[in-house]
Amino acid sequence: MAERAPVKLGVLISGAGTNLQAIIDALGRRELRAEIRVVISNRASALGLERAQRHGIASRVIEHRRFASREDFDRALVETLREYGVELVVCAGFMRLLSPVMLAAFSDRVMNIHPALLPAFPGMHAQRAALAHGVRFTGCTVFFVREGLDDGPIIVQAVVPVMPGDDEESLSERIRAQEHRIYPWAIQLYGEGRLTIEGRTVRVTDFPAGDESLALLNPRSPHSPRLKRPH
Ligand code: GRF
Repeated sequence: MAERAPVKLGVLISGAGTNLQAIIDALGRRELRAEIRVVISNRASALGLERAQRHGIASRVIEHRRFASREDFDRALVETLREYGVELVVCAGFMRLLSPVMLAAFSDRVMNIHPALLPAFPGMHAQRAALAHGVRFTGCTVFFVREGLDDGPIIVQAVVPVMPGDDEESLSERIRAQEHRIYPWAIQLYGEGRLTIEGRTVRVTDFPAGDESLALLNPRSPHSPRLKRPH
């Protein structure tokens, strides 16, 4: 079977771009087979732009403020993404809601990452909300963007424990470390053609069977023996 061509990515950012960096690093380690065609930021001051430049990746600033409506802004995004031949749009800390203009142009070809186990804690300040609810686990989710806030078919999730004494910063840092693992992985699965959207769920082809013994407890009860892997 002929090998697939590397998937052409357009990465949308607004800020630090640590997820962008994780994708660049995964490409460098050859864990991810893809090509970043362009990085687009809606803020000229986004640190992520420097990361792109440092790695010789084309970048563009498209400031949302210059556009009268969300739709006009999205039309400019779509035009630039097409100009660079982008196949998959990767939102990485992009702080704008996308309109139907973008979602129709790249139907089921827009991914996003969120710092919670969706559908829990959508929207801003997900880590703060997790702490306020006293959940024992939270995490991060990569999903396909649909209309509606953080409400699309889920691709990959990572579970992160909430530790006693955590504040928003320490929890965010623990979650971010997992974001950096799962985002390149989700893109790789897409590039391998292993993601099939069925309604609001995603089927992953040839996914290794899960392991029931990976069930997690937090806090860990002294009375419940640690679940062992079957021999
Ligand atoms: C991440 O926490 C991501 O989950 C959220 O925005 C943050 C982006 O961080 N969507 P960075 O710009 O990739 O460092």
